[in-house]
Amino acid sequence: MRDTASSPLPFIDLQAQRSRISDQIDAAIRRVLDHGAFIMGPEVTDVERQLADRTGAAHCLTCASGTDALILPLMAADIGPGDAVLVPSFTFTSSAEVVALRGATPVFVDVDPQTFNIDADSLKSGLRAADSAGVTAKALMTVDLFGQPADFDPIREIADEHGLWILDDAAQAFGATYKGSSLGTLGRVTGTSFYPSKPLSCYGDGGAILTDDTELYERMKSVRVHGNGGGSAEAKCLGLTARFDSIQAAILLEKLKIFDDECEKRNVIAQRYSEGLSDVVQTPQLIDDVTSVWAQYTLVSEQRNTIVETLAADSIPTALFYPLPLHIQGPYRNYPVAGNGLPVTERLANQVVSLPMHPYLEADAQARIIAAVRTALAS
Ligand SMILES: Cc1ncc(COP(=O)(O)O)c(C=O)c1O
Repeated sequence: MRDTASSPLPFIDLQAQRSRISDQIDAAIRRVLDHGAFIMGPEVTDVERQLADRTGAAHCLTCASGTDALILPLMAADIGPGDAVLVPSFTFTSSAEVVALRGATPVFVDVDPQTFNIDADSLKSGLRAADSAGVTAKALMTVDLFGQPADFDPIREIADEHGLWILDDAAQAFGATYKGSSLGTLGRVTGTSFYPSKPLSCYGDGGAILTDDTELYERMKSVRVHGNGGGSAEAKCLGLTARFDSIQAAILLEKLKIFDDECEKRNVIAQRYSEGLSDVVQTPQLIDDVTSVWAQYTLVSEQRNTIVETLAADSIPTALFYPLPLHIQGPYRNYPVAGNGLPVTERLANQVVSLPMHPYLEADAQARIIAAVRTALAS
Protein backbone atom coordinates (compact mmCIF):
# COMPACT_ATOMS: atom_id res chain seq x y z
CA MET A 1 0.00 0.00 0.00
CA ARG A 2 1.32 3.46 -0.89
CA ASP A 3 1.96 6.08 1.77
CA THR A 4 -1.00 8.37 1.23
CA ALA A 5 -0.73 10.40 4.41
CA SER A 6 0.30 13.58 2.58
CA SER A 7 1.40 12.63 -0.95
CA PRO A 8 -0.44 14.28 -3.86
CA LEU A 9 -3.40 12.19 -4.97
CA PRO A 10 -4.41 11.84 -8.63
CA PHE A 11 -7.93 12.84 -9.64
CA ILE A 12 -8.06 9.80 -11.94
CA ASP A 13 -5.32 7.15 -11.70
CA LEU A 14 -4.84 5.74 -15.20
CA GLN A 15 -1.38 4.44 -14.28
CA ALA A 16 -2.85 2.17 -11.60
CA GLN A 17 -5.10 0.65 -14.23
CA ARG A 18 -2.21 0.38 -16.65
CA SER A 19 -0.02 -1.48 -14.17
CA ARG A 20 -2.82 -4.05 -13.80
CA ILE A 21 -3.02 -4.86 -17.52
CA SER A 22 0.15 -3.44 -19.07
CA ASP A 23 1.37 -6.79 -20.46
CA GLN A 24 -1.98 -7.43 -22.15
CA ILE A 25 -2.18 -3.88 -23.56
CA ASP A 26 1.39 -3.98 -24.85
CA ALA A 27 0.74 -7.35 -26.53
CA ALA A 28 -2.53 -6.08 -28.06
CA ILE A 29 -0.79 -3.02 -29.53
CA ARG A 30 2.02 -5.20 -30.85
CA ARG A 31 -0.49 -7.45 -32.63
CA VAL A 32 -1.81 -4.43 -34.53
CA LEU A 33 1.72 -3.27 -35.34
CA ASP A 34 2.43 -6.75 -36.70
CA HIS A 35 -0.69 -7.19 -38.84
CA GLY A 36 -0.56 -3.59 -40.04
CA ALA A 37 -4.28 -3.01 -40.62
CA PHE A 38 -4.23 0.31 -38.77
CA ILE A 39 -7.53 1.52 -40.18
CA MET A 40 -10.65 -0.68 -39.84
CA GLY A 41 -8.58 -3.65 -38.71
CA PRO A 42 -10.14 -6.76 -37.13
CA GLU A 43 -10.05 -5.18 -33.64
CA VAL A 44 -12.53 -2.50 -34.76
CA THR A 45 -15.07 -5.07 -35.94
CA ASP A 46 -14.49 -7.13 -32.81
CA VAL A 47 -15.02 -4.22 -30.43
CA GLU A 48 -18.17 -3.12 -32.30
CA ARG A 49 -19.61 -6.62 -31.94
CA GLN A 50 -18.74 -6.77 -28.23
CA LEU A 51 -20.23 -3.34 -27.48
CA ALA A 52 -23.44 -4.22 -29.31
CA ASP A 53 -23.67 -7.59 -27.50
CA ARG A 54 -23.05 -6.02 -24.11
CA THR A 55 -25.78 -3.43 -24.49
CA GLY A 56 -28.28 -5.42 -26.53
CA ALA A 57 -28.28 -2.77 -29.27
CA ALA A 58 -28.68 -4.14 -32.79
CA HIS A 59 -25.78 -2.08 -34.17
CA CYS A 60 -22.60 -0.46 -32.93
CA LEU A 61 -20.57 1.93 -35.02
CA THR A 62 -17.26 3.06 -33.52
CA CYS A 63 -15.98 6.52 -34.36
CA ALA A 64 -13.17 8.95 -33.65
CA SER A 65 -14.61 10.68 -30.55
CA GLY A 66 -17.65 11.11 -28.37
CA THR A 67 -18.36 14.33 -30.24
CA ASP A 68 -18.42 12.44 -33.54
CA ALA A 69 -20.77 9.95 -31.88
CA LEU A 70 -23.24 12.83 -31.49
CA ILE A 71 -22.76 14.64 -34.78
CA LEU A 72 -22.90 11.55 -37.00
CA PRO A 73 -26.50 10.75 -35.99
CA LEU A 74 -27.52 14.39 -36.51
CA MET A 75 -25.91 14.40 -39.97
CA ALA A 76 -27.44 11.05 -40.88
CA ALA A 77 -30.89 12.19 -39.72
CA ASP A 78 -30.45 15.43 -41.68
CA ILE A 79 -30.99 17.70 -38.70
CA GLY A 80 -30.12 21.22 -39.84
CA PRO A 81 -31.29 24.83 -40.19
CA GLY A 82 -34.83 25.38 -38.95
CA ASP A 83 -34.66 22.32 -36.67
CA ALA A 84 -34.29 22.46 -32.91
CA VAL A 85 -32.78 19.95 -30.49
CA LEU A 86 -33.52 20.32 -26.77
CA VAL A 87 -30.31 20.02 -24.75
CA PRO A 88 -29.49 20.49 -21.07
CA SER A 89 -27.27 23.48 -20.36
CA PHE A 90 -25.51 21.72 -17.47
CA THR A 91 -23.24 19.48 -19.55
CA PHE A 92 -20.02 19.37 -21.55
CA THR A 93 -19.82 21.67 -24.58
CA SER A 94 -20.11 18.87 -27.15
CA SER A 95 -23.76 18.18 -26.37
CA ALA A 96 -24.85 21.56 -27.74
CA GLU A 97 -21.90 22.15 -30.06
CA VAL A 98 -22.88 19.35 -32.44
CA VAL A 99 -26.37 20.80 -32.82
CA ALA A 100 -25.03 24.29 -33.56
CA LEU A 101 -22.40 22.88 -35.96
CA ARG A 102 -25.27 21.40 -37.97
CA GLY A 103 -26.82 24.85 -38.29
CA ALA A 104 -29.72 23.65 -36.12
CA THR A 105 -30.82 25.38 -32.93
CA PRO A 106 -29.97 24.03 -29.49
CA VAL A 107 -32.75 24.94 -27.05
CA PHE A 108 -31.39 24.87 -23.52
CA VAL A 109 -33.35 23.18 -20.74
CA ASP A 110 -32.82 22.85 -17.00
CA VAL A 111 -31.80 19.85 -14.93
CA ASP A 112 -32.98 18.14 -11.77
CA PRO A 113 -31.16 19.48 -8.67
CA GLN A 114 -30.49 16.01 -7.24
CA THR A 115 -29.52 13.97 -10.31
CA PHE A 116 -28.14 16.75 -12.56
CA ASN A 117 -30.04 15.18 -15.48
CA ILE A 118 -32.79 16.67 -17.70
CA ASP A 119 -35.83 17.94 -15.86
CA ALA A 120 -38.94 16.73 -17.71
CA ASP A 121 -40.96 19.87 -16.86
CA SER A 122 -38.24 22.08 -18.28
CA LEU A 123 -38.49 20.09 -21.53
CA LYS A 124 -42.09 21.25 -21.86
CA SER A 125 -41.08 24.90 -21.53
CA GLY A 126 -38.20 24.21 -23.90
CA LEU A 127 -40.75 23.16 -26.50
CA ARG A 128 -42.57 26.47 -26.03
CA ALA A 129 -39.25 28.33 -26.36
CA ALA A 130 -38.55 26.51 -29.66
CA ASP A 131 -42.00 27.52 -30.93
CA SER A 132 -41.46 31.15 -29.97
CA ALA A 133 -38.10 31.13 -31.75
CA GLY A 134 -39.78 29.81 -34.91
CA VAL A 135 -37.81 26.56 -35.05
CA THR A 136 -39.20 23.02 -35.19
CA ALA A 137 -38.25 20.71 -32.33
CA LYS A 138 -37.14 17.44 -33.94
CA ALA A 139 -35.11 15.72 -31.24
CA LEU A 140 -33.98 15.96 -27.65
CA MET A 141 -30.66 15.03 -26.17
CA THR A 142 -30.60 13.22 -22.87
CA VAL A 143 -27.23 13.47 -21.14
CA ASP A 144 -26.43 10.74 -18.60
CA LEU A 145 -24.35 13.06 -16.50
CA PHE A 146 -21.56 11.79 -14.26
CA GLY A 147 -22.47 8.19 -15.13
CA GLN A 148 -26.14 8.09 -14.11
CA PRO A 149 -28.86 7.48 -16.76
CA ALA A 150 -31.38 10.23 -17.36
CA ASP A 151 -34.94 9.41 -16.24
CA PHE A 152 -36.07 8.06 -19.59
CA ASP A 153 -39.71 7.12 -18.85
CA PRO A 154 -41.13 10.64 -18.31
CA ILE A 155 -38.80 12.01 -20.98
CA ARG A 156 -39.97 9.43 -23.52
CA GLU A 157 -43.61 10.30 -22.78
CA ILE A 158 -42.94 13.92 -23.76
CA ALA A 159 -40.83 12.87 -26.74
CA ASP A 160 -43.59 10.57 -28.04
CA GLU A 161 -46.31 13.16 -27.49
CA HIS A 162 -44.37 15.75 -29.51
CA GLY A 163 -42.85 13.48 -32.15
CA LEU A 164 -39.25 14.03 -31.00
CA TRP A 165 -36.55 11.40 -31.21
CA ILE A 166 -34.06 10.84 -28.42
CA LEU A 167 -30.32 11.15 -28.94
CA ASP A 168 -28.73 9.87 -25.75
CA ASP A 169 -25.38 11.43 -24.86
CA ALA A 170 -23.91 8.60 -22.80
CA ALA A 171 -20.34 9.90 -23.14
CA GLN A 172 -19.88 9.56 -19.38
CA ALA A 173 -22.10 6.58 -18.75
CA PHE A 174 -21.36 3.56 -20.94
CA GLY A 175 -22.13 0.49 -18.82
CA ALA A 176 -24.94 2.07 -16.77
CA THR A 177 -28.48 0.66 -16.76
CA TYR A 178 -32.00 2.10 -16.53
CA LYS A 179 -34.73 -0.23 -15.23
CA GLY A 180 -32.75 -3.27 -16.32
CA SER A 181 -31.89 -1.97 -19.82
CA SER A 182 -28.37 -0.97 -20.79
CA LEU A 183 -27.63 2.50 -22.07
CA GLY A 184 -27.32 2.08 -25.80
CA THR A 185 -30.92 0.93 -26.10
CA LEU A 186 -32.83 3.80 -24.50
CA GLY A 187 -32.72 6.43 -27.21
CA ARG A 188 -33.16 6.06 -30.94
CA VAL A 189 -29.39 6.54 -30.98
CA THR A 190 -26.81 6.60 -28.17
CA GLY A 191 -23.36 8.12 -28.39
CA THR A 192 -20.51 7.41 -26.02
CA SER A 193 -16.89 8.53 -25.59
CA PHE A 194 -13.70 6.59 -24.87
CA TYR A 195 -11.70 9.70 -23.94
CA PRO A 196 -9.07 8.59 -21.38
CA SER A 197 -10.90 9.95 -18.33
CA LYS A 198 -14.16 8.16 -19.14
CA PRO A 199 -15.10 4.98 -17.21
CA LEU A 200 -14.51 2.90 -20.35
CA SER A 201 -11.64 4.55 -22.14
CA CYS A 202 -8.85 4.09 -24.63
CA TYR A 203 -5.45 5.82 -24.85
CA GLY A 204 -6.51 8.63 -27.15
CA ASP A 205 -9.76 9.84 -28.67
CA GLY A 206 -12.57 7.47 -29.54
CA GLY A 207 -16.29 6.92 -29.38
CA ALA A 208 -19.14 4.66 -30.38
CA ILE A 209 -22.74 4.89 -31.50
CA LEU A 210 -25.37 2.32 -30.57
CA THR A 211 -28.74 1.97 -32.26
CA ASP A 212 -31.49 -0.43 -33.27
CA ASP A 213 -32.32 1.71 -36.30
CA THR A 214 -30.79 -0.16 -39.25
CA GLU A 215 -31.48 2.54 -41.82
CA LEU A 216 -29.90 5.25 -39.70
CA TYR A 217 -26.96 2.94 -38.91
CA GLU A 218 -26.26 2.46 -42.62
CA ARG A 219 -26.40 6.22 -43.20
CA MET A 220 -24.09 6.91 -40.23
CA LYS A 221 -21.66 4.32 -41.54
CA SER A 222 -21.51 6.23 -44.78
CA VAL A 223 -21.15 9.63 -43.08
CA ARG A 224 -18.30 8.20 -40.97
CA VAL A 225 -16.17 7.95 -44.14
CA HIS A 226 -16.95 10.93 -46.39
CA GLY A 227 -20.36 9.74 -47.49
CA ASN A 228 -18.76 6.59 -48.82
CA GLY A 229 -21.11 4.72 -51.12
CA GLY A 230 -19.99 1.20 -50.14
CA GLY A 231 -18.09 0.11 -53.24
CA SER A 232 -19.17 2.97 -55.47
CA ALA A 233 -16.69 5.79 -56.10
CA GLU A 234 -19.47 8.37 -55.82
CA ALA A 235 -20.11 9.98 -52.44
CA LYS A 236 -23.68 9.39 -51.23
CA CYS A 237 -23.65 12.43 -48.92
CA LEU A 238 -21.28 14.76 -47.12
CA GLY A 239 -19.27 13.06 -44.43
CA LEU A 240 -16.21 13.12 -42.21
CA THR A 241 -13.08 11.17 -41.39
CA ALA A 242 -14.53 9.78 -38.20
CA ARG A 243 -13.19 6.24 -37.87
CA PHE A 244 -11.91 4.62 -34.68
CA ASP A 245 -8.42 3.25 -35.24
CA SER A 246 -7.26 -0.33 -34.74
CA ILE A 247 -4.72 0.41 -31.98
CA GLN A 248 -7.37 2.17 -29.87
CA ALA A 249 -9.80 -0.68 -30.52
CA ALA A 250 -7.16 -3.19 -29.40
CA ILE A 251 -6.67 -1.22 -26.16
CA LEU A 252 -10.41 -1.02 -25.58
CA LEU A 253 -10.77 -4.80 -26.03
CA GLU A 254 -8.30 -5.36 -23.18
CA LYS A 255 -9.99 -2.77 -20.98
CA LEU A 256 -13.40 -4.34 -21.60
CA LYS A 257 -12.14 -7.53 -19.88
CA ILE A 258 -11.80 -5.68 -16.56
CA PHE A 259 -14.62 -3.17 -17.05
CA ASP A 260 -17.29 -4.96 -14.98
CA ASP A 261 -14.86 -5.33 -12.10
CA GLU A 262 -13.92 -1.66 -12.36
CA CYS A 263 -17.58 -0.63 -12.30
CA GLU A 264 -18.10 -2.66 -9.13
CA LYS A 265 -15.10 -0.95 -7.56
CA ARG A 266 -16.45 2.47 -8.55
CA ASN A 267 -19.73 1.61 -6.85
CA VAL A 268 -17.97 0.60 -3.62
CA ILE A 269 -16.01 3.87 -3.67
CA ALA A 270 -19.15 5.94 -4.31
CA GLN A 271 -20.88 4.21 -1.43
CA ARG A 272 -17.95 4.91 0.89
CA TYR A 273 -18.02 8.59 -0.08
CA SER A 274 -21.75 8.76 0.58
CA GLU A 275 -21.42 7.04 3.95
CA GLY A 276 -18.64 9.43 4.93
CA LEU A 277 -20.24 12.64 3.73
CA SER A 278 -24.01 12.54 3.33
CA ASP A 279 -24.61 13.85 6.88
CA VAL A 280 -22.73 17.08 6.12
CA VAL A 281 -23.23 17.85 2.40
CA GLN A 282 -25.48 17.05 -0.58
CA THR A 283 -24.08 13.82 -2.03
CA PRO A 284 -25.17 12.31 -5.39
CA GLN A 285 -28.60 10.67 -5.49
CA LEU A 286 -29.55 7.84 -7.81
CA ILE A 287 -33.13 7.50 -8.98
CA ASP A 288 -34.87 4.14 -8.43
CA ASP A 289 -33.85 1.16 -10.49
CA VAL A 290 -30.76 2.58 -12.17
CA THR A 291 -27.09 1.77 -11.95
CA SER A 292 -24.36 4.38 -12.37
CA VAL A 293 -20.80 3.94 -13.56
CA TRP A 294 -19.72 6.90 -11.41
CA ALA A 295 -17.73 8.84 -13.96
CA GLN A 296 -17.71 11.57 -11.32
CA TYR A 297 -18.62 11.81 -7.66
CA THR A 298 -20.03 15.31 -7.33
CA LEU A 299 -21.03 17.22 -4.20
CA VAL A 300 -23.27 20.29 -4.06
CA SER A 301 -22.35 22.88 -1.43
CA GLU A 302 -22.55 26.62 -0.87
CA GLN A 303 -19.05 26.18 0.58
CA ARG A 304 -17.75 24.73 -2.68
CA ASN A 305 -14.78 27.12 -2.88
CA THR A 306 -13.72 26.33 0.69
CA ILE A 307 -13.83 22.61 -0.16
CA VAL A 308 -11.64 23.18 -3.22
CA GLU A 309 -9.10 25.28 -1.27
CA THR A 310 -8.97 22.99 1.78
CA LEU A 311 -8.42 19.90 -0.36
CA ALA A 312 -5.83 21.66 -2.53
CA ALA A 313 -3.86 22.57 0.62
CA ASP A 314 -3.69 18.83 1.36
CA SER A 315 -2.62 17.99 -2.25
CA ILE A 316 -6.05 16.56 -3.08
CA PRO A 317 -7.28 17.61 -6.54
CA THR A 318 -10.89 18.47 -7.26
CA ALA A 319 -12.65 19.41 -10.50
CA LEU A 320 -15.57 21.67 -11.35
CA PHE A 321 -18.02 20.07 -13.75
CA TYR A 322 -19.42 22.51 -14.86
CA PRO A 323 -18.62 26.00 -13.62
CA LEU A 324 -20.18 27.79 -16.64
CA PRO A 325 -23.58 26.77 -17.97
CA LEU A 326 -23.51 26.44 -21.74
CA HIS A 327 -26.34 28.92 -22.34
CA ILE A 328 -24.29 31.82 -20.94
CA GLN A 329 -21.13 31.02 -22.94
CA GLY A 330 -20.24 33.07 -26.03
CA PRO A 331 -21.09 30.63 -28.83
CA TYR A 332 -24.43 29.68 -27.26
CA ARG A 333 -25.64 32.95 -25.76
CA ASN A 334 -28.15 33.70 -28.48
CA TYR A 335 -29.97 30.38 -28.53
CA PRO A 336 -33.37 29.91 -26.87
CA VAL A 337 -33.62 28.97 -23.22
CA ALA A 338 -36.57 27.23 -21.56
CA GLY A 339 -38.71 29.32 -19.19
CA ASN A 340 -37.27 32.39 -17.52
CA GLY A 341 -33.69 31.19 -17.33
CA LEU A 342 -32.32 27.96 -15.90
CA PRO A 343 -32.16 28.50 -12.11
CA VAL A 344 -31.02 25.00 -11.16
CA THR A 345 -28.23 24.94 -13.74
CA GLU A 346 -27.07 28.40 -12.68
CA ARG A 347 -27.03 27.47 -8.99
CA LEU A 348 -25.26 24.15 -9.58
CA ALA A 349 -22.55 25.85 -11.61
CA ASN A 350 -21.62 27.78 -8.45
CA GLN A 351 -21.97 24.90 -6.03
CA VAL A 352 -20.72 21.64 -7.58
CA VAL A 353 -17.37 20.07 -6.88
CA SER A 354 -16.17 16.64 -7.98
CA LEU A 355 -13.87 14.51 -5.83
CA PRO A 356 -11.19 12.09 -7.02
CA MET A 357 -12.95 9.04 -8.46
CA HIS A 358 -11.42 5.98 -10.10
CA PRO A 359 -11.54 2.23 -9.43
CA TYR A 360 -8.10 2.15 -7.78
CA LEU A 361 -8.75 4.75 -5.07
CA GLU A 362 -7.50 3.05 -1.91
CA ALA A 363 -9.49 3.15 1.33
CA ASP A 364 -6.88 5.15 3.26
CA ALA A 365 -6.60 7.77 0.52
CA GLN A 366 -10.37 8.02 0.40
CA ALA A 367 -10.54 8.42 4.19
CA ARG A 368 -8.11 11.33 3.82
CA ILE A 369 -10.36 12.97 1.19
CA ILE A 370 -13.47 12.50 3.31
CA ALA A 371 -11.71 13.96 6.37
CA ALA A 372 -10.56 16.98 4.35
CA VAL A 373 -14.10 17.67 3.06
CA ARG A 374 -15.46 17.43 6.60
CA THR A 375 -12.76 19.83 7.83
CA ALA A 376 -13.65 22.28 5.06
CA LEU A 377 -17.34 22.18 5.91
CA ALA A 378 -16.66 22.65 9.64
CA SER A 379 -14.59 25.80 9.03
C1 LIG B 1 -21.39 14.74 -21.74
C2 LIG B 1 -20.34 14.65 -22.81
N1 LIG B 1 -20.72 14.66 -24.10
C3 LIG B 1 -19.82 14.56 -25.09
C4 LIG B 1 -18.47 14.47 -24.83
C5 LIG B 1 -17.51 14.44 -25.98
O1 LIG B 1 -16.65 13.35 -25.98
P1 LIG B 1 -15.21 13.47 -26.70
O2 LIG B 1 -14.33 14.28 -25.81
O3 LIG B 1 -14.77 12.04 -26.81
O4 LIG B 1 -15.42 14.10 -28.02
C6 LIG B 1 -18.03 14.46 -23.51
C7 LIG B 1 -16.58 14.39 -23.20
O5 LIG B 1 -16.08 14.90 -22.25
C8 LIG B 1 -18.98 14.55 -22.46
O6 LIG B 1 -18.62 14.56 -21.18
